[in-house]
Amino acid sequence: MLNMPTIQPISLSLAGSFVPVAAQIPRHVVQQRVRAPKKNIPQTIVERNHFLQVVRHYVAEFNPVPPMPADELKVHADRIVQMLQCDPIYRDYVGVLTNNEMWREQLAAVPYERRLLLLPKCLRVESKCPAPFDEFGLLCKQCGLCTIQDLQAEAEKLGYATLVAEGSAIVMSLIQTGKIEAIVGVSCLSVLERAFPYMEAAAIPGVAIPLLQDDCIDTTVDLYWVWEYIHLTTDDKTRRLDLGALRDEVDFWFSPASLDTIMGNGEGETERIAREWLGRAGKRWRPFLTVYTFQALRKDTDSPLPNDIKKIAVAVECFHKASLIHDDIEDQDALRYGEKTLHEEYGTAVALNVGDLLIGEGYRLIGASKVSAEQKEQMLLVASQGQRELCRGQGAELCWARTPMPLTQHQVLDIFRKKTAPAFEVALRFGALYAGTEQHEEVENVLKTYSEALGIAYQIRDDLSDIGANGKTNDLAGMRPSLLLAIAHEKARDAQKELISSVWHRELPIGSTFEQIEQLYGELGADARARTLLETYKEEAIRCLTQLETPNLKGLLRRVIGKIFNDVEIKGWCKERETKIRMRDGVPLEMPAQDETVMTK
Ligand code: IPE
Ligand code: IPE
Ligand code: MG
Repeated sequence: MLNMPTIQPISLSLAGSFVPVAAQIPRHVVQQRVRAPKKNIPQTIVERNHFLQVVRHYVAEFNPVPPMPADELKVHADRIVQMLQCDPIYRDYVGVLTNNEMWREQLAAVPYERRLLLLPKCLRVESKCPAPFDEFGLLCKQCGLCTIQDLQAEAEKLGYATLVAEGSAIVMSLIQTGKIEAIVGVSCLSVLERAFPYMEAAAIPGVAIPLLQDDCIDTTVDLYWVWEYIHLTTDDKTRRLDLGALRDEVDFWFSPASLDTIMGNGEGETERIAREWLGRAGKRWRPFLTVYTFQALRKDTDSPLPNDIKKIAVAVECFHKASLIHDDIEDQDALRYGEKTLHEEYGTAVALNVGDLLIGEGYRLIGASKVSAEQKEQMLLVASQGQRELCRGQGAELCWARTPMPLTQHQVLDIFRKKTAPAFEVALRFGALYAGTEQHEEVENVLKTYSEALGIAYQIRDDLSDIGANGKTNDLAGMRPSLLLAIAHEKARDAQKELISSVWHRELPIGSTFEQIEQLYGELGADARARTLLETYKEEAIRCLTQLETPNLKGLLRRVIGKIFNDVEIKGWCKERETKIRMRDGVPLEMPAQDETVMTK
């Protein structure tokens, strides 16, 4: 599915030195500009989600029945606006959401094969889009430059008919064929207003996700919503899964009393420190992923979580937290979670030993869980393979430090893949294994690709978050391999290259500062490039889900990306007007080199 650029992995071995192999970078996605929504649309995704929740509650409570003429819909929208105590300027938007939610159940009951996905062509990259048009709209070439391809591919795989076109006339003619029984559409509010009377007249279940702008330039949409409506079925139980509640539950397992219940009472100082470290802060993404995956794959989602999934989820966190203790020693970091690291507090020997204990605890919990011998065997294999890979990744970084030299961005990305992806993969595969081995066969490959992309993206974000934080835990200050430093080194010339090169050799020339290096990141576009790569790997994680046959898991893993990276809004790109202006002004439309993603204005 994914086109790889023609970068060959290279393996260098210089006498006495370690050089990691290069990673393959997936095809890049277009970097889209963040734009404020039109003023009659709530400005942040947090507000928009809140609006949707209130609309959902309203529809559940008052049960308005569709199809509903515009006048009647406006009465409901006005009431909701009052409940929201928001500016009446949002009434049309609220009306669209209300109409969507009224149709929700009926849309869910229509088989995918009898639904139409309608996308606006302004989501494409006008200046580069190779797709021609016919009378039915855009004939997408799957070039991967915009989100149209992903939405289309996903919908078509489910069985939808899809259409990339503007205007209500085509929709009406399709409805009249009688083959379309429901529509999921993306459109701007003004087009929706025009199309609404036709839809209402045809009484066709329709869900419309509003574009956040209506000027055909850089339009954006809450893609997460589109994804959710596309997958809406009566069988998809995860749509109703409250991830927030699940998250609270998993968080609770790491409170001291709960840890004692799950792991048994600890004895002595070493165990006390280990439990305290396990309970200390942390985002708990890995145990969440285990539980989410289990929930998505198990047959009976309505019954409470079985007790032993707690052991498995805690085991995953034991491995992760152990790796952090060891990593802090290796990186000589004095702070984590804004507090002293374990070796700083208790000395290296104690910290090392606590890390070892936690690894042992992870294996003990797997052994103690009530799963079949085959599941247990698989879990042990998955955990040990994950640990091996993580150590190889950490090792690549640590061995590099013995004979430091500049690394390419591909080599740094390969280190990221090795050191950060395994913990995610173990977490996901544990959830799948606990749910039953038969599903495990089906999802194994996807979970691997997903974890790799997620792990790399996660680590890129970690690198990006270092910028401006010149603390001791900063990779730059610690003179550890960093993606930004690799990109800057590749882009720099002459004196700048020499300066960056000396940092790669772990020497900061007298008179130079780390702030200066960070400034160079900006000048050389290293941070922009790293952000592009972050988006690329996130996109890769989403794309690989296309191969999943299990709708529950697919939907859930898609939602997880939005949650981890806290960006449920993905932008569409439509530069029609700008392209016309540039052509009029005689400005050439440059094509980017294959390895360079552009589009930042
Ligand atoms: C830290 O992971 C190590 C990296 C992979 C960057 P997290 O940032 O997920 O650590 P916790 O679990 O929240 O402590
Ligand atoms: C974390 O790596 C350790 C592993 C992924 C095993 P980093 O050193 O890059 O992460 P932080 O910044 O210390 O959390
Ligand atoms: Mg570290």
